[in-house]
Amino acid sequence: CNVVVLISGSGSNLQALIDAIAAGLPARIGAVISNRADAYGLVRAQNAGIATAVLDHKGFDGREAFDRALIERIDAQRPDLVVLAGFMRILSAEFVRHYAGRLLNIHPSLLPRYKGLHTHQRALEAGDAEHGCSVHFVTEELDGGPLVVQAVVPVLNGDTPDSLAQRVQRGEHHIYPLAVRWFAEGRLRLGEQGVELDGQPL
Ligand code: GRF
Repeated sequence: CNVVVLISGSGSNLQALIDAIAAGLPARIGAVISNRADAYGLVRAQNAGIATAVLDHKGFDGREAFDRALIERIDAQRPDLVVLAGFMRILSAEFVRHYAGRLLNIHPSLLPRYKGLHTHQRALEAGDAEHGCSVHFVTEELDGGPLVVQAVVPVLNGDTPDSLAQRVQRGEHHIYPLAVRWFAEGRLRLGEQGVELDGQPL
């Protein structure tokens, strides 16, 4: 399974995937693409011998033009799967349709709660006892695509958005490689009726 990973930042989820592949997950990362030249994830990729590219959205006249250039870069790798790992850009409908059924995202909340930004702060403000993260197929609805897997963590007394984010991220680093493994093994697909694992609706 050939994977292209899109990042904007630290790339700890990318690292979890690199580590899982080193430990036997049957996939290869053909390229890591960042919209930011200073993303630390680019260093992680280079350290693992993975090709990197920077495509700065600021150099393009609008979202559609950027997304078309991004599609070109990605498709040069002929990926089976595109993994959004902290890629902080909203993708156009054209992009999402182009990768329908082979585009995964991880979001730091128990979707459908807290779509969008500042999820840890919002969970704290709401007084939630539990919080977590979700892997989902990407559709045109922002953070609204069909769910694949979630990790739940407790919210503890005295938690700050940062301490909670760290706990949630440990969950992310488990479930994202797991979802990619299911996909790479041909067990996970987005069918007409929604997500299927081993041919059964999730
Ligand atoms: C993660 O918390 C992910 O849920 C969100 O962006 C963050 C990326 O972190 N979409 P990293 O770059 O993988 O460390």
